[in-house]
Amino acid sequence: MPRRKFVAGNWKMNTTIKSAVELARCLVAKIGQADMDLAVCPPFPYLLAVRDALAGSRIALGAQDVFYENDGAFTGEISAAMLKDAGCTHVICGHSERRHVIGETDEIVNRKLLKALGEGLVPIFCVGELLAERQAARTLEVVSRQVRLGLEGVSAADAARVVLAYEPVWAIGTGVVATPQQAQEVHALIRKLLEELYGPELARRLQIQYGGSVKASNARELLHCPDIDGALVGGASLKAEEFEGIVRAGL
Ligand code: 13P
Repeated sequence: MPRRKFVAGNWKMNTTIKSAVELARCLVAKIGQADMDLAVCPPFPYLLAVRDALAGSRIALGAQDVFYENDGAFTGEISAAMLKDAGCTHVICGHSERRHVIGETDEIVNRKLLKALGEGLVPIFCVGELLAERQAARTLEVVSRQVRLGLEGVSAADAARVVLAYEPVWAIGTGVVATPQQAQEVHALIRKLLEELYGPELARRLQIQYGGSVKASNARELLHCPDIDGALVGGASLKAEEFEGIVRAGL
């Protein structure tokens, strides 16, 4: 069976409650029934309002992060159970902004991933190299390490529910998109690594999104590469027409 495409919007630290709900409503009207896996990841305080706006559509609700403990004295953190309670089905784990701005390590990302899976959430597990790492021909090494350490202790049954996202850090928010060849090369490499870890059948089934300056105008050629199964979209997911264009490019 061919893999389904999956386009998700990561709204990052943007929108207001009003604009978030408006954006969600607009997306429901435009692509709410599109035959593709779809999700949006609003900021935490807007999850409930966006959940209500998405009701009845095929657009899933995701969070941008999760903490790796169940409950207790962890001021400011949000548990996987809370996300589930708030209507989330998906959660982004290991986004590069959390790795490089907040300082999350592979070990922390792994703990978050395990907790999300344990709660039945679908983790959107992000990996990607820095510009300096690409220039030093270390892309393969860095991405392999992130994938291996991130998935440590994840059973094959649980791995079947993981979505990967390859987001080269130099392409995020820069307007510099990876060429389809550059992206496809790393996606194929990630799939090969997944094959080593979990066998060919599972590796064939897992979705791997590309993220980094995806727009309606460049989505088609990316989304039609053999190992690119969708997109994780930042800036362009804040504009309903752009996000719609990306989704339509993948249909
Ligand atoms: P941009 O689409 O704004 O480059 O962001 C990509 C991203 O980080 C999605 O998670």
